[in-house]
Amino acid sequence: RKELKVSPSIAAGNLLKLEEEVRKLEHSGADSIHFDVMDGHFVPLLTIGIPFIEQMRKITKMHLDVHIMVTNPDSTFENYLSAGADTLSFHIETALHPHRICSKIKETGKRAGIVLNPSTHWKDIEYLLPVLDQVTLMTVNPGFSRQAHIPLVHKKILELSKYRSENNLKFDIMVDGGVSHENANTLNKLGVDIVVAGGAVFNFENYKEAIVKIKSASIT
Ligand code: DX5
Ligand code: ZN
Repeated sequence: RKELKVSPSIAAGNLLKLEEEVRKLEHSGADSIHFDVMDGHFVPLLTIGIPFIEQMRKITKMHLDVHIMVTNPDSTFENYLSAGADTLSFHIETALHPHRICSKIKETGKRAGIVLNPSTHWKDIEYLLPVLDQVTLMTVNPGFSRQAHIPLVHKKILELSKYRSENNLKFDIMVDGGVSHENANTLNKLGVDIVVAGGAVFNFENYKEAIVKIKSASIT
């Protein structure tokens, strides 16, 4: 297998120095910037949202991978597209008409993704898999960075990646929550393509070193 791609979760960085964080990530070997949006309802915290994405879009060409943890994606998802998201992922637990949201995301030429909480079965989105560009499996209960990875989700990762190869589907599998150089190899072997990294990047001075450590661990 190839090395894992790494998408640092910028909300785990220094929120008072976002431009500096973006510049550091541009030179870090990161494959995209993961942007977590929390609404204070679906998850307890309220963090940064649409206006931040708009401003970030103006200062960088990096791929913006936006993960919305909000209760009402049906009525709000379009704002994230016009703000400049390249990939937009919403939680299946919150969506009333997920197929409609995905179709509209794809109509704008952006990548469509769905996120599953640890407790949600992948079969819930089986019918949607052919139109998805990315499926994110949460390996923590969403809401906070630096929580412990939940290995109980690994069985689901393996089932989904087997289903993907058996059906010749093309979506990327992303894992979000408690990823580090310690579990990168296991995740890669399970069929994961991209990992989100909060603490595993932003707890360190040198982001490039931290990312290399995850990537090289994933193939050794
Ligand atoms: C969890 C967020 C994650 C988080 C990852 O609610 O979706 O993206 O910031 O942080 P770590 O890697 O520290 O678990
Ligand atoms: Zn996330």
